[in-house]
Amino acid sequence: MNAAPFSLKTYLEGRKHIINASLERLIPTDRSPAARLFEAMRYSLMAGGKRLRPILTLAAFDATNKTGLPLERAMPFACAMECIHTYSLIHDDLPAMDNDDLRRGLPTCHKKFGEALAILAGDGLLTLAFEICSAFEEGHAAPAEVRLRAIHVIAQAAGMNGMVGGQTADMELEGTNISFQELDYIHDRKTGALLRASVLLGGILAEAGPRDMQALVDYGTRTGLAFQIRDDILDIEGDEKTMGKARGSDERKKKATWPAVHGMKQAKERMQELCELAIQDIQILGDQATPLKAIAEYIMKRDH
Ligand code: IPE
Ligand code: IPE
Ligand code: MG
Ligand code: MG
Ligand code: MG
Repeated sequence: MNAAPFSLKTYLEGRKHIINASLERLIPTDRSPAARLFEAMRYSLMAGGKRLRPILTLAAFDATNKTGLPLERAMPFACAMECIHTYSLIHDDLPAMDNDDLRRGLPTCHKKFGEALAILAGDGLLTLAFEICSAFEEGHAAPAEVRLRAIHVIAQAAGMNGMVGGQTADMELEGTNISFQELDYIHDRKTGALLRASVLLGGILAEAGPRDMQALVDYGTRTGLAFQIRDDILDIEGDEKTMGKARGSDERKKKATWPAVHGMKQAKERMQELCELAIQDIQILGDQATPLKAIAEYIMKRDH
């Protein structure tokens, strides 16, 4: 009997389910003087979201795992990427940054809890990510040197040469006439860095060889850029209800986006080209990379 054909919908739902179950356990619900902080962290983390970064970590792990290592070794790192991503969204929405009121279909963290708690909830989630990855665990944990390499990749992707640097450039260049290179710089860092790291982590934890790792770097870089181009397109053409966030935020803030700089037609063509190249990047991984290929196709079509 032939195996059932691969269904991305079923795959994404299944992965989201196990990731949410792990995230659910991370933040305490008990009463303490810091209970409001925990509440704010949990509010944003559990508000929904596609969970694409942790899903990519698990998919890249499966794509390069040649020796039957348990998926549990990738799980803390997958969850860490979602914590860092959620922190980046909370801070991105603050009045001092994009000043947005709606996120994941709910009032943004600062609208619900106030700015001070939103800043602290972001700080708490960023730090929690490193707490999870460096925890002394029995059982399924990867060897210490593998985990150290993974932690280093996360720190680089989140910091000044990654997401934080990209967010800075995004802000500093608002309303200016930017070059194509500067636009790619912003996209590659503010969004690409965390997506690429999510993919790389899967390979690191599966102890993939250099050829497979290079395939993941290329795939992660291209899907990361394509993901932000799609986000820019949705900010113009998307449905607010489906997206769970407001449309038109970029225009209001005079952001440098792909449609604004190159035009909508070029933005769509570039996004499609990047996703097709990303699929070619991982050909060498064979059938084990079926979910990664399907995710690259999904990135250019997604409606939220
Ligand atoms: C939104 O990310 C912010 C960007 C980096 C473009 P997502 O579109 O992955 O948001 P969630 O996690 O599904 O809410
Ligand atoms: C956000 O880019 C990137 C990060 C949060 C790091 P956007 O500002 O375009 O994301 P949205 O549209 O608010 O989700
Ligand atoms: Mg922004
Ligand atoms: Mg924003
Ligand atoms: Mg956007």
